[in-house]
Amino acid sequence: MTKKLNIAILISGTGSNMQALVKACKLPDFPANVVVVIANKSTATGLTWAKEQGLNTVLIDSTKFALQKNSRLAFEQELQNVLQNFKVELICLAGFMRLLTGWFIEQWPQKIINIHPSLLPNFKGANAVFDALQAKASQTGCTTHFVVEEMDAGPIILQQSVPIDKNDNLESLKAKILQQEHQIYPETLKIVCNQILANIK
Ligand code: GRF
Repeated sequence: MTKKLNIAILISGTGSNMQALVKACKLPDFPANVVVVIANKSTATGLTWAKEQGLNTVLIDSTKFALQKNSRLAFEQELQNVLQNFKVELICLAGFMRLLTGWFIEQWPQKIINIHPSLLPNFKGANAVFDALQAKASQTGCTTHFVVEEMDAGPIILQQSVPIDKNDNLESLKAKILQQEHQIYPETLKIVCNQILANIK
């Protein structure tokens, strides 16, 4: 039996990338196992899908911490507890729309990966697809990378370009990019897990 790493997938919305990762993890020789899906928003529809699949799901509603002193840290401490309880070894951010603090990232060196809808370092931030259209770029794409404290700036793992047609609008371009994301994210996960597993042998 192939050794598999325990992964957590963190979402804030639809979770189509989460679905692609879950599907890949069902392959017998895939080196990862989804032990928990965590959402920070009660509106994250992906959490319902994950529950229907029989996966462990946890909602850590970030709004519930808003009035607390050190709300970011309180949220992340709860997140850290959940990750430890499920013996998570690698974290996959999949449309998780919340910046993580340096404290949290230091707990997981080279163990948090993310997918972003542009060819980084171009078009960082939450409106990457819109920004690429606004800039009248001829192409954009998607990037997987390790997460560091600076937003969308960690070491790049894989990238895939997507041409921008003159008829593209926000919706059509997002859909084209997502299709590529669903290819490169599982591929990335496999590469990263195999690297980690090779180092602990
Ligand atoms: C994707 O475009 C991803 O690159 C970005 O947020 C979007 C999430 O989509 N970080 P989904 O929830 O995986 O469908």
